Amino acid sequence: MDFHDLEPETLAIRAGIARSQFGEHSEALYLTSSFVFESAAQAARRFSGEEEGMVYARFSNPTVSAMQTRLAALEGAEACVATASGMAAIMSTCMAFLSAGDHVVVSQGVFGATQQLFATILPRFGIETSFVKATDIEAYRAAMRSNTKLVFIETPSNPLTEVVDIAAVADVAHAAGALLAVDNCFCSPALQQPLSLGADLVLHSATKYLDGQGRVLGGAVVGAKRLVDEVYKFIRTAGPSISPFNAWVILKGLETLSLRMQAQSQQALALATWLEKQPQVARVFYPGLSSHPQHELALRQQKTGGAIVSFEVHGGREAAWRVVDGTRMLSITANLGDTKTTITHPASTTHGRVAPEVRAAAGIQEGLLRVAVGLENVADIQADLKTGLVS
Ligand SMILES: Cc1ncc(COP(=O)(O)O)c(C=O)c1O
Repeated sequence: MDFHDLEPETLAIRAGIARSQFGEHSEALYLTSSFVFESAAQAARRFSGEEEGMVYARFSNPTVSAMQTRLAALEGAEACVATASGMAAIMSTCMAFLSAGDHVVVSQGVFGATQQLFATILPRFGIETSFVKATDIEAYRAAMRSNTKLVFIETPSNPLTEVVDIAAVADVAHAAGALLAVDNCFCSPALQQPLSLGADLVLHSATKYLDGQGRVLGGAVVGAKRLVDEVYKFIRTAGPSISPFNAWVILKGLETLSLRMQAQSQQALALATWLEKQPQVARVFYPGLSSHPQHELALRQQKTGGAIVSFEVHGGREAAWRVVDGTRMLSITANLGDTKTTITHPASTTHGRVAPEVRAAAGIQEGLLRVAVGLENVADIQADLKTGLVS
């Protein structure tokens, strides 16, 4: 089947199907760590790559292949390689393209563990990072050096939903001979396709919307085959591979991705609009609101504002924790992208390990809360938040 003729909703359901001899309708889960060969000669051919086929699940498994094919189709990419988690996708990309002496430019306000990776782990291996204001294109240009190999952005950012102009940053990166990698976790390919805007690689925490129901960890790197092959080589050797079971859950999650993203975005817009009217709320961060500083860009670059709404309450940490502790239904958890609405206090959880001055520079205040809007009735979500929103 030529995938180019199919719409994204169809690809999400049909791409990547490779039926076994049993003709199963739903995709099979190949829960096996290794594969058998017909002969010693075939084993040798498989290991050398002379013959295509499965070998060992650290680097080949039919269920994982199905997930990779489907996700590549949704991102409009040639290739995809899955990883054990979103962080494994980011780390594997760095290991594939960076060496000691190289430099990276990263947008400020990226996910806490990503910030830690670039700020504290990679420097031990001689890789330097400059963090720049996510929305300031001139800052990216000014930060580029002759040894800059990679520009890494997250858009919309976590938790402030800042929207980065992917096409503009791609131009800056390419003019300096660097690759642009985009963490597309918040939008998923259902709302945003960074490769079509000039990015070289798309990275995912599949743990979030791609699974969609908070069940498994997973990640992926998507892009041109020549680039994804480099990441694959690292994963094959170093082993941050996805389990077939997790790949299967994510593969099935992709089937409802578009519907979920549309519905959850609508709920998020309704919630953000309501929050803006609450006197205890100082500011709402949601790209779908006209008050959002990059609203126009978000409308151009994304299909909707997404399903993450962050807001700052008057009264700092105490007032924010009151809202969290006032909830009876919302899940107090750091995960996002679930059908169940979650609430997080970033300054003391996801971004708790980030130095306070770095957090403040990124705009993550003590009164900030992040709500990842799920599929419950939005009136119930509002009522649950209302309990702790007291003056
Ligand atoms: C934007 C973003 N990128 C990457 C990650 C890391 O993903 P994982 O938890 O699957 O390693 C997260 C996790 O919350 C995230 O929110």
